[in-house]
Amino acid sequence: MGRLRLGVLISGRGSNLQALIDAARSPTYPAEVALVISNREGVFGLERARAAGTPTQVIPHRAFASREAFDAALDQALKGAGVDLVCLAGFMRLLTPGFVAGWRDRMINIHPSLLPAFPGLDTHARALAAGVRFSGCTAHFVRSEMDTGPILVQAVVAVRPDDTAETLAARVLEAEHRIYPFAVRLIAEGRVQVIGERACIAGASTETTVLLNPPA
Ligand code: GRF
Repeated sequence: MGRLRLGVLISGRGSNLQALIDAARSPTYPAEVALVISNREGVFGLERARAAGTPTQVIPHRAFASREAFDAALDQALKGAGVDLVCLAGFMRLLTPGFVAGWRDRMINIHPSLLPAFPGLDTHARALAAGVRFSGCTAHFVRSEMDTGPILVQAVVAVRPDDTAETLAARVLEAEHRIYPFAVRLIAEGRVQVIGERACIAGASTETTVLLNPPA
């Protein structure tokens, strides 16, 4: 069986795209980046894709009269490239319900918080302001409402008393780069089944460890 074909949607620096590109360098990784689409010209993520020899397309949202027309262009490009799974990776456009429905359970996102806490922007500043002891990141299937959908993988990052939004973001980003390729692998290996609005993972851990922060 061939590798799962990924279509990665970006708007910026593309470090999560890079994590997927790097994972796919291994011949045993069950997915490959077939197409990278950016809604912005000149972003660093496009350079990363080109450096890896991955096909890119720039589809500038401003060139379209409506969100529906923009999403139709995305859809056409993804289908044209034979994409099996859409990976949002710092893609800063809201997608229309029709597009989201068309890629239901075939489109995932990476978000820098432990959803459902802190959806939206400025997650790290908001997590620090709330005084949470743990933050982290979430890979999830995409639903119409922003940053919702069945959760695939989460990573927990302990918050330090001296953290700033920047230091916390850096540690969470490292975790993102681990879990996003892992979430793709789970899907590509056929280990994920969406039942109701939960993603059930075959062979998931039965770990019962409790983490304390601060430690007792
Ligand atoms: C990441 O923090 C991701 O969780 C969020 O947007 C950021 C994108 O970063 N959705 P990058 O472009 O992948 O470096």
